[in-house]
Amino acid sequence: MDLQWIDDETGLAEAAAAQAARLLAAKPKAAVALATGRTPRGLYRRLVQRHEAGSLAVDAARFFNLDEFVGLRPQDPRSYSAYLWKHLLAPLHVPPAQVRLLQGDAGDLAAECRVYDAALAAAGGLDLAILGLGTNGHIAFNEPGDDWKAATHVVTLAPSTRRAQHHLFASEAEIPTQGLTMGIATIRAARKILLLAMGEGKAAALTALRAGKPDPAWPATALLDHPDLTVFADRRLG
Ligand code: GLP
Repeated sequence: MDLQWIDDETGLAEAAAAQAARLLAAKPKAAVALATGRTPRGLYRRLVQRHEAGSLAVDAARFFNLDEFVGLRPQDPRSYSAYLWKHLLAPLHVPPAQVRLLQGDAGDLAAECRVYDAALAAAGGLDLAILGLGTNGHIAFNEPGDDWKAATHVVTLAPSTRRAQHHLFASEAEIPTQGLTMGIATIRAARKILLLAMGEGKAAALTALRAGKPDPAWPATALLDHPDLTVFADRRLG
C-alpha cells in the first residue's frame, strides 16, 4: 500500500486526478469503477476541467459504478446513477454505450448482479477502481462482515451507512435499507486501486488500514495485499 498524506481537499483531488488521467492516457480503453459521495467530487471536477482543456480523452474509456441504492430508478436524483451522470459522465460527454451502471430498480436483483458481472468480465475486468471510504471501513457498499469472495451482490445497509446518506433524503424512513454493490473480489481484481480517505469520522477506518492486518470488521483492509493500491488520505485523519 502506498499511503500518501495530503494537506486538504484540493490537494487530494489534484493527486487523484493526476493518477486517473495518467492511466487513461496510457490505456484509452480503460474500464473504470466510480465511487460516489462527497469524497470524489473534487476529483471529478478536476477530470472535467482537464477534459475541457483538451488534456483528457474519454472517447474509448468504459465506466461502471461501484454501488447503488435498491429501489431507486436511475433517473431519481438521489441515485448514484444520477450523481455520476451529473458530476462526471455528462460533463465529460461520455456516450451511454460506454457506461454500465447498476440498476437499483431492477425487478430481479440477483439477475441484475449476474448481468453486471458479465459486463465487467466482457470489459476485461477493471483497470482502475476509484474508491471512497465509509466511516465503518466499508468500500462501495461492502459492509463489515460481508463475504470478501463475493462478486456483485445485494447488501443490507448498516445503520451508520444509512445515517451517512441522510442528506440525500427528506426523512430517515426514505433512506433505502438495501444496496447493490460490486463485491470485494471484483474490486480486488482491479489492476489499480485509488482509495480516497477524506471527511469526518474516517479516522478509525484509516487506523485499521494502517494497522496492516486484514480484518473482516474493516472491509477496506481486504485491499492490503493489492499490488497497486494508492491511498490518498487527508492529513487531518492521521
Ligand atoms: C457511501 C458509498 C460509498 C462511499 C461512501 C463514502 O456509502 N456507497 O461508495 O465511498 O459512502 O461517502 P463520502 O465520500 O460521502 O464520505
